[in-house]
Amino acid sequence: MAKTAVPAKIAQRAAKLRTDLDAHNYRYYVEDAPLVSDAEYDRLFRELQALERDYPALSTPDSPTQRVGGQAATQFDPVTHRVPMLSLNNAFADEEAEAFDRRARAALGVEEVDYAVEPKFDGLAVSLVYERGQFTLGATRGDGNTGENVTANLRTVRAIPMRLPADAPPLLEVRGEVLMLKRDFAALNAAQGSAGEKLFVNPRNAAAGALRQLDPAITASRRLAFFSYGVGAVEWGSVTPPATQDALLKLLAALRLPVASQRSVVRGLEGLLGYYRFIGTKRDKLPFQIDGVVYKVNPFAQQERLGFVSRAPRFALAHKFPAEELPTQVLAIDVQVGRTGALTPVARLKPVFVGGVTVVNATLHNEDEVRRKDIRVGDTVIVRRAGDVIPEVVRVLPEGRQPNAPQFELPKRCPECGSKVVRLPDEAIARCSGGLVCPAQRKQALLHFASRRAMDIEGLGDKLVDQLIDAGLAHTPADIYMLGVAALAALDRMAEKSAANVVTAIDKSRATTLARFIYALGIRHVGETTAADLAQHFGTFDALLAADEHALLEVRDVGPVLVQSILQFFAEAHNRDVIAQLRAAGVHWTETAPRREPAGKFAGLTFVITGTLPTFSRDDAKALIEEHGGKVAGSVSKKTAYVIAGAEPGSKLDKASELGVPVLDEQQLMAMVAHGRIKR
Ligand code: IVH
Repeated sequence: MAKTAVPAKIAQRAAKLRTDLDAHNYRYYVEDAPLVSDAEYDRLFRELQALERDYPALSTPDSPTQRVGGQAATQFDPVTHRVPMLSLNNAFADEEAEAFDRRARAALGVEEVDYAVEPKFDGLAVSLVYERGQFTLGATRGDGNTGENVTANLRTVRAIPMRLPADAPPLLEVRGEVLMLKRDFAALNAAQGSAGEKLFVNPRNAAAGALRQLDPAITASRRLAFFSYGVGAVEWGSVTPPATQDALLKLLAALRLPVASQRSVVRGLEGLLGYYRFIGTKRDKLPFQIDGVVYKVNPFAQQERLGFVSRAPRFALAHKFPAEELPTQVLAIDVQVGRTGALTPVARLKPVFVGGVTVVNATLHNEDEVRRKDIRVGDTVIVRRAGDVIPEVVRVLPEGRQPNAPQFELPKRCPECGSKVVRLPDEAIARCSGGLVCPAQRKQALLHFASRRAMDIEGLGDKLVDQLIDAGLAHTPADIYMLGVAALAALDRMAEKSAANVVTAIDKSRATTLARFIYALGIRHVGETTAADLAQHFGTFDALLAADEHALLEVRDVGPVLVQSILQFFAEAHNRDVIAQLRAAGVHWTETAPRREPAGKFAGLTFVITGTLPTFSRDDAKALIEEHGGKVAGSVSKKTAYVIAGAEPGSKLDKASELGVPVLDEQQLMAMVAHGRIKR
């Protein structure tokens, strides 16, 4: 086709199609009043495509047909914002809005302030740079200083003009929010559903996902919208800079940039709260999701005088809507087991659309929480969800209670592995005690077992553990010692050589120390130091296994919580089985004679008491010190750790100061007992 001769009629038709397509986009995304059906839009689009194909000279980079182009990217490049993208201070209560207005009036020294008020769009902040009217750069907010270059994706957003009218400022950075209209979100999810694909939780997440696609063709298929609410860097050129926020938005709208029509200018606090209430009643009927309204002092001169505090302007405030609360029914209370064995009750709910998502589950945190709120299966409950916050059950509506509904009880046995469920003293969380066997804890248990300070099996890291679990090759740490080169080499990305290396490392780990072995078991609260103390104290593993509460309390730094944790771990037969298997597989260490060091926080310390203590008799004080492992001597020497002095002390006090021995009163002694070396 000849490059030159484009018949005038054809050129006119192409120009008309472009103007019409842009106008239809504007009607759909900005005015919320489409004039044509999607099918008609597509027909016009294809007509233009055909003309541009037949007459390449017609093609221009800002044609609606050129929105999707180029290749999928491998990453997004960083973009430094010329003017930082800041955030807004949030308010929830009317009083906070009142305080905002009061501060503004005081700082400006005026009776009443004019405000520009706008919806707070629940989408993603972006910056659009127009140079000489052409859209040249689009970026996400990022950390406010540096965002990501998503120009190719933003070009596919039909609400974003590719070119501004001729009277636009030479440089204009538009700030606004990318979002998905409620109807486009519903259509997207319907399509996802019938294709058997995963549903998006809400329009915001769907928009975020679409914007972060490396392939702009996918972004294009997701139908994003855009609304502007401000500007960043601007060179006004011959354009008169607007003096107010309201005038700025009018100017943007005149440049055919999308601006929400639901904005207004109001006066004083009454105006602010009136707008907040008004939009609140309109919220459900808006074509897009909002999570509040934004108040901005209208005149820019006043905005400048108010300035910024840290990262937020003092001249603007986001007044958020309260978290939505709705009733629904508790269908069941399930118990989930986490990676560390924590049992969490989860309410299964009759699906309810609240706070922009369909809620079907809500965590009930722990047993006490369920009791406190007295949530039972079959109850009607109030569910709340705000923004990105996890949905929660606020309270039970007593009217809905079934007459015989039983109180919630945590199972006595782990739903994953059948091991006993235990709750240590002072802990809110109940846990599965089958640390070595529970599938929910498997990965954690294996990783910990193999870690450097435990059995130190080099090469048995995160990825390999995942593969072993997926292949069903490792259910418990004992299975590790059954692995051969052939089985390992059969795994993905595992060569013969590396498989052999892992087997060698496993082999090497068989010879270990008692302390490492105890630590490797992953008993709750038993860290390296406690493991070493236990190993030293008992000398052999069987002595530790046989130890009762009393015997365990004698170990240095071992308190009641640790004792319960150790006892319950070994009481679980599943765990003992795995330990037996490990030993049968050749895991061994050198056993030693027990070395039972005196226990207690005063172990190794000698005290001397002098004078009359205010509440304790001398014998009581002595008993207290000894109970914590200390010794009480009759005279002060260089070896004395502390002198405890009461009223009318004798020469022992002089001797103490001579030798530089610290002197305590009864209260300080008690404080040491309470806070000194803490025992778990
Ligand atoms: S003005 C100096 N106006 O809210 C701050 N922001 O918390 C300029 N947002 O990331 C922001 N609707 O993306 C402004 N009408 C509106 C808004 C709005 C939503 C978002 C914005 C920003 C966040 C600030």
